Amino acid sequence: MSAISKTNVAVFVSGSGTNLQAIIDSGIESANIAVVVCNTPGAMAIERAKKHRIPVEIVNSKDFKSREKFERHIVAKIDKYDIGLVVLAGFMRILTPYFINRFRNRIINIHPSLLPSFPGINSVRQALDYGVKQTGCTVHFVGEEVDAGPIILQVAVAVAEEDTENTLLEKVHAQEHSILPEAIRLFCEGKLTLRGKKVLVSS
Ligand code: GRF
Repeated sequence: MSAISKTNVAVFVSGSGTNLQAIIDSGIESANIAVVVCNTPGAMAIERAKKHRIPVEIVNSKDFKSREKFERHIVAKIDKYDIGLVVLAGFMRILTPYFINRFRNRIINIHPSLLPSFPGINSVRQALDYGVKQTGCTVHFVGEEVDAGPIILQVAVAVAEEDTENTLLEKVHAQEHSILPEAIRLFCEGKLTLRGKKVLVSS
């Protein structure tokens, strides 16, 4: 019986870490959560990682004069983990070309809207204010443009007339917790192929 080869994954977080929890709970066979990187000391995501004995690197973005210095510090910290995939799971920092080149085509992000609609922050609020009948979430590769890289998976969520930002956020989150682990699995099993702006997914 041959052992399944695992890809070392670094999960980057800033806040509550419900997506991190979903990744942990999914127990993806082809992925090893090697390290969690958090830029906000005290974030709930840190506790989630520690509870599962996952190494945590806390690098406070406020301690650095530039984004690139902050990223170089992170890269030095995670070098030893031989990272094959970086997952941005609620990481509230925009990455510079330095970091993107360092992990070119090996960074994925979860975003709470059907991109290219509602990029940036407060996407669920933006969707509600616009009055769309469907919103959702997107997992995409990260390139230089914010919230605009090649799309891996998307799920639509119907907007009900009585939805508030909180109720809609909850529905979107539930879908995020399913497509983010799925995208990680697909990546780690070598099932994603980039063709320009498109991502081909093989089963
Ligand atoms: C998610 O809605 C994700 O789409 C966005 O940040 C949020 C993170 O939530 N990028 P959590 O920390 O995983 O609970």
